[in-house]
Amino acid sequence: MITELARAHTLPSRFYTSEEAAAREREQVFASSWQYVGPADRVAAPGQFLTAVVADEPVLVVRGEDGVLRAMSNVCRHRASFVACEAFGTARRLKCPYHGWTYGLDGRLKGTPEFDGVEDFDTASMRLPEIPVQVHGPFVFVRINGDEALCIPGFLEHLAPHAAGLRHARQVAYEVGCNWKVYVDNYLDGGYHVAHLHPGLHGVLDYPRYYCELHDGWNVQVSPLRAEERPRGKAVGDVRHGDTAYYYWLYPNFMINCYSGLMDTNRVVPIDVNRCVVLFDYYFPEGTQQEKVDRSIEVAGHIQDEDKDICEAVQRGLKSRWYDTGRYSVRRENGQHQFHQMLIQNSAR
Ligand code: FES
Ligand SMILES: [Fe+2]
Repeated sequence: MITELARAHTLPSRFYTSEEAAAREREQVFASSWQYVGPADRVAAPGQFLTAVVADEPVLVVRGEDGVLRAMSNVCRHRASFVACEAFGTARRLKCPYHGWTYGLDGRLKGTPEFDGVEDFDTASMRLPEIPVQVHGPFVFVRINGDEALCIPGFLEHLAPHAAGLRHARQVAYEVGCNWKVYVDNYLDGGYHVAHLHPGLHGVLDYPRYYCELHDGWNVQVSPLRAEERPRGKAVGDVRHGDTAYYYWLYPNFMINCYSGLMDTNRVVPIDVNRCVVLFDYYFPEGTQQEKVDRSIEVAGHIQDEDKDICEAVQRGLKSRWYDTGRYSVRRENGQHQFHQMLIQNSAR
């Protein structure tokens, strides 16, 4: 592995800049993998729902009155509006905001105002198409195509002690002007950029002991935290503490950051070849004071701004006539290499 890594080159820049690569990934990566869509505790009770976009498909996940969790298309069968528009909600019926068609929580079409006299109209076949959904630990996943199982051996056991007792508190969306892979690459550089880009975060991490452990389908960057933060780490240290930080990545686009008593997840969703949205889901112990939640999210927002600026610069740089591929740091960038290898394997099928 080390030899391979020592000799390897990063993905050619056309992977990040061409419409063809983006279209191929939509089908072969995003539509053909289990995609995290939201926190399981937001769809625990009958009537609770969440929405997401997967491989450009609007998707709705809802807990039925019968207690069954279902995922379905969130596109109205009348004129293709979104049926549910909020990220999270609770409903007894799903009512399309456009012309008021209503669907049951199981996706069956229930109401079609002012539709008497329409011929060859089969209500039963006009339900919202269902897609596979699974819950793993605190997370809900859906899959658009194929029936392969989610393969992340050892991940849930590794995560469990860090996620125990946490509940979803808030979702925050950041739009970033880069290809989705630039954002993931930045996450998977084994802390290489932290000292240069995030002085606050650097102040709390014990960087020399930071390493990335590779597993089948996922990896985890483990960073011991300093017993005493450096002066510039004060603001971060106030809200990010514990012995060790764990930064998990699940192929292709799902990341989970764990500190003591705090977890946030990042889901990177492509908008087009040059833009993505990063959805942060923040988890805290039940009953955490609002002020602490706000301060913690504010600190994460500063780090996110630093990452956003550099990712947008990289996206512009990738279009340079003089740049095509780069190299990997053997000490730091093994996780990024794993990501690229999986991507090549999966999008060459
Ligand atoms: S688009 Fe939904 S009711 Fe018309
Ligand atoms: Fe960063």
